[in-house]
Amino acid sequence: MAALVTYFQLFSILHIVFFLTVPTRSVVMASPPAVKGAYSSDPTTFPPSAVDTSLFTHIYYAFLMPTYVTYKFDISSSTALELSNFTTTLRQKNPPPATLFSIGGGGSDSNLFSRMASKPTSRKAFITSAMEVARKFNFDGMDLDWEYPSTPKDMKNLARLFKEWRRAIDIEAKATSRAPLLLTAAVYFSVDFFLDAVYRKFPVRSINQNLDWVNVMCYDYHGGWNTSFTGAPAALYDSKSNVSTSYGLGSWIEAGADRTKLVMGLPLYGRTWQLKDPNFHEIGSAAVAVGPGDAGVLTFVEVEEFNKKNGAVIIHDMDSVSTYSYAGTTWVGYDDDITATLKIGFAQALGIRGYFFWALGSDSQWKISRQASRAWILGE
Ligand SMILES: *[C@@H]1O[C@H](CO)[C@@H](O)[C@H](O)[C@H]1NC(C)=O
Ligand SMILES: *[C@@H]1O[C@H](CO)[C@@H](O)[C@H](O)[C@H]1NC(C)=O
Ligand SMILES: *[C@@H]1O[C@H](CO)[C@@H](O)[C@H](O)[C@H]1NC(C)=O
Repeated sequence: MAALVTYFQLFSILHIVFFLTVPTRSVVMASPPAVKGAYSSDPTTFPPSAVDTSLFTHIYYAFLMPTYVTYKFDISSSTALELSNFTTTLRQKNPPPATLFSIGGGGSDSNLFSRMASKPTSRKAFITSAMEVARKFNFDGMDLDWEYPSTPKDMKNLARLFKEWRRAIDIEAKATSRAPLLLTAAVYFSVDFFLDAVYRKFPVRSINQNLDWVNVMCYDYHGGWNTSFTGAPAALYDSKSNVSTSYGLGSWIEAGADRTKLVMGLPLYGRTWQLKDPNFHEIGSAAVAVGPGDAGVLTFVEVEEFNKKNGAVIIHDMDSVSTYSYAGTTWVGYDDDITATLKIGFAQALGIRGYFFWALGSDSQWKISRQASRAWILGE
């Protein structure tokens, strides 16, 4: 264990870095309450009853999908039980977090969303059905995780979808005298897909006007899809490329996104590689394959187990603001409580709304979630 520098020393170092590099603004001005979110990807193995709700303001059920033909939600009886259980259980907790269900996800069919968003009739069917699900199962809101709109036309249609969705929410809230449903979306780390052959950019105006906030997925920068080199999967800074959280969040702000509508994603998992030569173990060292874990992914719990079992060397890299560990030829890039907390400081200095985790149940005894929650309060 390389606890050479204490958490508080690191925190001071990063604060100095902020003054040099980040256009800060006052964080004492009146702003909407902070978002401390988390997605629940597996309510069966990690039930809602196990959530320490003192650490989160919003819990997302992941995921539901509309059907191919009608774009409506067809909820099976077992899913219906799970949804009821999810919202009922969380609502009974102290404090009760807000609940949302998320639509889509990384493994879902992007073309389905593209088709749905392309026509007013299918957008309407989708929106109406999503709102019915939300009310029927007592959710406080809905989240769209379309990964990803793939053309400029998709982005235009996404803007229309958000606008019509917001209008439907307002109308329903007025008609029923209930609090309007929340509407959020999970989005790419950068406002535009600058790495792809087909350039497209998220509809920032529509997002500002119609969404409560967006969950910016500030992770998966490097992983098992490129086994040639190790990389920090969620680097805050990268001196050699724009694939970093500081660049990504900066791109959203530069494009005009309202800071109170931006929520920074934090991964509760690491990505692994097999080093080509165990003597070269920096970030960016040559690798030959993925390391342990399904497709080279280990939850934070599993990373800690790996480190302990193998006596891994743990490094807090202050250039990237990320953590990595290595033992023999195995290399793991991740965030622990120290680097996650430093990123929280960065997010607060930017004046954004909050942070969220992917995913609940991967933390080790709430270690990262608790430090993050404390850090956000400390800065306010
Ligand atoms: C929810 O499911 C759990 C088991 O997963 C069960 O113990 C609990 O009683 C259920 N709660 C409700 C409110 O149905
Ligand atoms: C793998 O990553 C390296 C370093 O970031 C990059 O130069 C290379 O082009 C990538 N290879 C592939 C196949 O993406
Ligand atoms: C990063 O993006 C900026 C524009 O936002 C560009 O000027 C710069 O060349 C990019 N840097 C790299 C390393 O690609």
